[in-house]
Amino acid sequence: MSVTDLPKTYRVKSFGCQMNVYDGERMAELLDAQGMAPAADGEEAELVVLNTCHIREKATEKVYSDVGRLTKAGRKSGRQPMIAVAGCVAQAEGAEIMARSPAVGLVVGPQAYHRLPEMVARAAKGIRAADTDMPEDAKFAALPARRRVGPSAFLTVQEGCDKFCTYCVVPYTRGAEISRPYSDLLREAERLVEAGAREITLLGQNVNAWTGTDALGRAVGLDGLAKELANLPQLQRIRYTTSHPNDVTDGLIAAHGENPKLMPFLHLPVQSGSDRVLKAMNRSHTTASYLKLLERFRAARPDIALSGDFIVGFPGETEAEFVETLDLIGAVGYAQAYSFKYSPRPGTPAASMDGQISREVMEERLARLQAALNRDQFAFNRTTEGRICEVLVERSGKLPGQWLGKSPWLQSVLFSGEAAIGDIVRVELVEAGPHSIQAALVSS
Ligand code: SAH
Ligand code: SF4
Ligand code: F3S
Repeated sequence: MSVTDLPKTYRVKSFGCQMNVYDGERMAELLDAQGMAPAADGEEAELVVLNTCHIREKATEKVYSDVGRLTKAGRKSGRQPMIAVAGCVAQAEGAEIMARSPAVGLVVGPQAYHRLPEMVARAAKGIRAADTDMPEDAKFAALPARRRVGPSAFLTVQEGCDKFCTYCVVPYTRGAEISRPYSDLLREAERLVEAGAREITLLGQNVNAWTGTDALGRAVGLDGLAKELANLPQLQRIRYTTSHPNDVTDGLIAAHGENPKLMPFLHLPVQSGSDRVLKAMNRSHTTASYLKLLERFRAARPDIALSGDFIVGFPGETEAEFVETLDLIGAVGYAQAYSFKYSPRPGTPAASMDGQISREVMEERLARLQAALNRDQFAFNRTTEGRICEVLVERSGKLPGQWLGKSPWLQSVLFSGEAAIGDIVRVELVEAGPHSIQAALVSS
């Protein structure tokens, strides 16, 4: 087949978590290596990759409606794009999507996307296929080198989940927990820094379950990896997400007091403040053990900003149990958080539990929960007013001469003056808003 049969332009649309964003970047790099180019803004791409998320309901419906929209646009312009469905919906429902939607040229799961170029080449010849294999460790080895990246880059270090929370699809869509090898990660981090990254966020579904072996054959955990990465002179900041309470080690807590490049921020999902609900969720931690962990992180790094994930309306959740979640939030004082209505996922144990909660009740609880979380986020932002800190400049703001960057505590910081994307500048945090903070440059 001649190369001209391949699509020349592509667009990757990623939904869901940061790992999907990372995967989307790597798929784009694979397509670049085949000589394809990203479609310009507003231009229709010849290949569209829908990099999907399955975590909450309507994920599959969304895929079909996106496919419908793309084919409609294709009819209008007379050029049908090749459509590839990737990500977690592809993993969960790939065969069904292929059968139901002839417009989809290929389906590729999160552990098989290194095969995307060959699948695109075959689809260009009319050979449709779905690949949802989970080959051990083959993917990362087969990916090309990192290309240009922004000042803040993602690096997947751990993938998959063995925890099987009763509401969650991730163990099924991402497979068992695996850790990428230490030396591969150091190499990828070096490439990212050479390509312009000043901050690296280490990613994993349970990132703190990462383990590896260093050059001397010693076992290392995430704290050891962060310590080694801190030796890269150009790298200024290290973050990690998402951690699981059960995989927190003494070393990781201590690292927050010892490694100055490890940012004072911790995203540690708890889901509920009720021990009965936590048990039904199979979370294997209690509210007390969770609070104890936070206390120890705060002892190691008193200014650490805390973040979490919450689910309201898990089957059987009573009003009193929901209030326990509000109490936990009041006790912690989160700097930010994500909260969701429980969504029954096909095939998970919770989907068939008694006591499914009505949408109205879930919505009412979510509104109260989010009011509490917003109140605390604003309060946290106010406690940082007057602090002098460093900001990593990520992009220009809406106003002329304005910049947007992140504080060490992951707040969005707006300021004006002399700066460039990728700079680390010193500012004084001046005026807190609910979701961002205004700052002024200070001379160092
Ligand atoms: N591994 C991470 C989170 C992965 S999913 C952890 O355990 O902390 C991200 C978040 O989505 C979860 O923390 C949870 O709050 C939410 N979530 C997962 N499944 C859900 C479901 N079925 N309904 C609603 N929210 C869900
Ligand atoms: Fe899902 Fe629980 Fe695994 Fe997180 S730990 S990915 S919530 S099963
Ligand atoms: Fe969604 Fe898969 Fe991430 S289900 S949240 S894209 S791991």
